[in-house]
Amino acid sequence: MNLPARVQIVEVGPRDGLQNEPAERPVPTAVKLELIGRLADAGLTRIEVTAFVSPRRVPQMADHEALLRALPRRAGVRYSVLTPNLSGVEAALAAGAQEVAVFGAASETFSQKNIHCSIAASLQRFEQVVRAAQRAAVPVRGYVSCALGCPYEGPIAPAAVAQLAGALHEMGCYEISLGDTIGVGTPRAALAMLEACARRVPLAQLAGHFHDTYGQALANVYAALQMGVAVFDASVAGLGGCPYAPGASGNLATEDLLYLLDGLGIETGVQLTALLQADRYISEALGRPGRSRVAMARM
Ligand code: HMG
Ligand code: MG
Repeated sequence: MNLPARVQIVEVGPRDGLQNEPAERPVPTAVKLELIGRLADAGLTRIEVTAFVSPRRVPQMADHEALLRALPRRAGVRYSVLTPNLSGVEAALAAGAQEVAVFGAASETFSQKNIHCSIAASLQRFEQVVRAAQRAAVPVRGYVSCALGCPYEGPIAPAAVAQLAGALHEMGCYEISLGDTIGVGTPRAALAMLEACARRVPLAQLAGHFHDTYGQALANVYAALQMGVAVFDASVAGLGGCPYAPGASGNLATEDLLYLLDGLGIETGVQLTALLQADRYISEALGRPGRSRVAMARM
């Protein structure tokens, strides 16, 4: 098997996970800070911590500025935040963001529902974000949502995904995360999409972001690994979904991804036991059974 020797895990739980928690039970900033600290303790070096988006649209991210300002900086750990527009990136940079991310969609309908503009208009907004971040020497990541299907439009052509990925790459995004936002992909479709994107963006600059609606996330990761993809997003405890993607279930759980990578002998720098402790912490804080209990009992 020809697999990467090392994989980077991008932990998106504090943002992609917690954004989906019910608005009537806001997750306290202190709980988020403790979670992020525990994730860093486990060895995760890239952590997406919040989103500078409308607090009316995504109430759980309303504390974005307070959280980012309170977050203790750690050597070797980079905190990233979502920034949909110029006002978002300006606020994020002022609060000390070490990386920002723009997020577009390969589906027109999803783009309208999620960020209230067409794909073409979103690219104009992102251009402003990228220029502002570049002036501050802050790296920008790009997301393509609905890379394997849209909750409104159904299947999405790999060419449409590749076109947006290519545009984000040319604009200056250093990495493009390809999101199966609603978790409908299977390995053959994932490979067709990745192959189309790899014709526009160097493979080393592509990341897989899979959701587990039909239990396919790890199968898609494994297919992508065989193709040489070496960056994957995941969310501790499988938290998440997307507030503008009805029916989207959780992200791929970071501990499931790590268990697979450890089993394949692929280096990540992340410790499973410490990660399971972070899972238990956030699961208890949210009042739900942690996925860690069975696994930890076996240790
Ligand atoms: P808009 O409605 O087009 O623009 O928002 P607007 O300028 O008319 O602003 C509307 C309101 O948002 C105004 O406040 C603005 O001040 C405020 P109001 O007058 O209503 O009180 N606003 C902002 N507030 C904070 N930060 C900002 C900001 N900009 C405007 N940067 C906008 C455009 C994108 C902001 C809005 O539509 C929005 O916040 N959408 C939510 C998008 C979101 O966070 N979606 C979930 C994340 S995407 C995802 O989960 C998928 C991904 O994980 C990949 C995958 O899973 O596959 C990335
Ligand atoms: Mg996601």
